[in-house]
Amino acid sequence: MKDQLESIKKDFSTAIEKVKSLADLADLENKFLGRKNGALTLAMKELKNLPKSKIAEAGQAANEIKKNIELKIKSLKAELSQTGSDGFFDYTLPGQESPLGHLHLVTEAIREIAAIFERVGFERMRYPEVEWDYYAFESLNMPKDHPARDEWETFFIDKSPISKKFGLPAKASATAGQRVLTPHTSNGQVRDMERGKLPIRMMNISKTYRRQMDASHTPMFHQFEGLVIDKDINITHLKGTIDYFVKNFFLPAGEAGGPDREIRLRPHHFQFTEPSFEIDVSCGVCGGKGCKLCKEGWLELAGAGMVHPNVLKAGGIDPNKYSGFAFGWGVERCYMMKSGLNIDDIRLLYKNDLRFLRQF
Ligand code: DAH
Repeated sequence: MKDQLESIKKDFSTAIEKVKSLADLADLENKFLGRKNGALTLAMKELKNLPKSKIAEAGQAANEIKKNIELKIKSLKAELSQTGSDGFFDYTLPGQESPLGHLHLVTEAIREIAAIFERVGFERMRYPEVEWDYYAFESLNMPKDHPARDEWETFFIDKSPISKKFGLPAKASATAGQRVLTPHTSNGQVRDMERGKLPIRMMNISKTYRRQMDASHTPMFHQFEGLVIDKDINITHLKGTIDYFVKNFFLPAGEAGGPDREIRLRPHHFQFTEPSFEIDVSCGVCGGKGCKLCKEGWLELAGAGMVHPNVLKAGGIDPNKYSGFAFGWGVERCYMMKSGLNIDDIRLLYKNDLRFLRQF
């Protein structure tokens, strides 16, 4: 019996080396542990024929071998299950690709805009998105109850009066008023003047909030605001800067594949600039014919003008010595107007639908 068990042990060791697949392993298991004809099973059945004094010892030896065989089969089974069903692991197969994302389209646009303006000396600043009425309206030459405020569809966040706790500059504190989710990036104008450094070439890019939602509006969007203040600044500087930006951001049709783009300045009214303009760009989706997004072929992208003397005064700057220009654009609208993109609904940018985002 001893010899028989030894040879089963040996045979098993040799046989398991040859196993290449789960099917081979099942055969092996059957050959040694199979209920009817397994080599070990048969040997164990014979135990009862041994002289009584030998049964216990041989039984113990047989059980040990059985345990050992079971253990080896179990671990090889686990190993083989991880490789191919034929038990062969092909190291030359391509691996599983991990998906590689990209920055959100709006983040990409913001970085591109910032880089274009940095090249001509603008410095990017960040100002609060939860803002005092004073900086969002009052300091921009819109006294309380001025009807122009209604144009901004503002979210007011509470009715609490000004509190010294929030570190408001002394001269603003009497009129700071309520807090708002800033409806435009123009809140950065007087804040930047209050830093007390001249000349100013500021770029404030930030989230802005208004109570509107349709194909060309989302309640949260982004604006970029430029402010330049120096001696002898005039309207040609404003126009030149806008031309420079448009030429660098909206590539010509030949390069980006889309209709040719045009710009128009329309006289307008803003309380904080005089004179004021709206800047329109011909629609990149329909090529200026009129579509769901633009309606009449032009998309209003920006407001601009020469900084009003009252705003300079609010920022502690003498309007007799200094002058400046400012402009404020919508980031998403600008991005959608890039040639060849054909995004006709601003809400797509914020739906987080990967089928849409993966196209870029
Ligand atoms: N703040 C204006 C808006 O959101 C845009 C604007 C107009 C910004 C004229 C300016 C400006 O800086 O000078 O509609």
